[in-house]
Amino acid sequence: MDAGSKAFFYALSRSDALKRLASKYGMATKESFARRFIAGETIEEALGAAQSIQDQGYLLTLDYLGESVRTPEAATTATREYLRLIDVISRAGIERNLSLKLTQLGLDVDRATCVDNLRRILGPAGEHGFFIRIDMEDSSHTQETINIFEALWRQDYRHIGIVLQSYLRRTEEDITRTLHLGARIRLVKGAYKEPRAVAYPSHRDVESHFLTLMKRLLDSGQYHAIATHDPAMIEATIAYAAERGIPNDRFEFQMLYGIRRDLQESLRARGYRMRIYLPFGREWFPYFMRRLGERPSNVAFVLRSLSHERRALRN
Ligand code: FDA
Repeated sequence: MDAGSKAFFYALSRSDALKRLASKYGMATKESFARRFIAGETIEEALGAAQSIQDQGYLLTLDYLGESVRTPEAATTATREYLRLIDVISRAGIERNLSLKLTQLGLDVDRATCVDNLRRILGPAGEHGFFIRIDMEDSSHTQETINIFEALWRQDYRHIGIVLQSYLRRTEEDITRTLHLGARIRLVKGAYKEPRAVAYPSHRDVESHFLTLMKRLLDSGQYHAIATHDPAMIEATIAYAAERGIPNDRFEFQMLYGIRRDLQESLRARGYRMRIYLPFGREWFPYFMRRLGERPSNVAFVLRSLSHERRALRN
């Protein structure tokens, strides 16, 4: 992805008209285009996809989609959905691992609302043996996300982990702090459109930073996640682990649902722990647009499906 296409898709992701259009067609049938990246709109659909992924030998994390909520009511609704998810998963025999975003729980409304909602989720999650990964959003939320994460960690919520992004210049220091806490990190390149002042503009820098940070995570002796579809990053991780004698079960790879299924399968077959990030829910549009921004050739696939879809729905 280059910065231009990211910016373009970021702008489109703010369009209500496009959102309405996409929402009408994107998940309408089993073949609809958004289903390539999103497991469905309901918990039941997500559980079906989760069961099938688990049966194929993958680890998984479920994400109830939603972000940037503007009212306490919307944050409460998202919190209730997570509580329902914990209840349903606990009974379904699906791996107990969830990912969530703090702006979905009200971070843009106010910090206290967000922290209250997060605590309401972490309580039952802890009782039922869930691990909760706090996704990282754009750089205007980085510091607050880390502050909340660290505050809760210090209050003995130890079933939480965080995400750090190699495109941010600050991440080396954030890794140092987080390793010092002893918390689990998911390392990603970063998915948002960021200014040069805070993020490396060139792929080469993002990747070389990723490799430096990956080595620090592996050397830490703690259990972390390397989340990328980039074969160069993956092979470098495998080579580094081999060089340092780090066994396959001391770290995991993670990939997004529907992306590089071939690579997911080959890593699993080679004996690596492979976790699939499985998003679901009605608020899939911003997530979906980030996936298009990462790989603009996905647009051709969407347009083809869309014209097919409109014909099918008319008939
Ligand atoms: P890169 O973008 O270079 O892609 C490498 C290759 O992967 C491509 O050549 C292509 O083959 C394939 N690929 C990548 N994206 C694709 C797409 N959309 N469609 C089709 N093929 C694609 N980010 C963030 O800011 N906060 C977060 O919390 C998370 N969480 C997260 C969890 C997990 C499990 C993953 C895998 C990723 C994230 N991300 C994220 C997203 C991450 O920051 C990044 O935007 C994407 O993973 C794409 O970057 P890659 O490292 O895959 O490399």
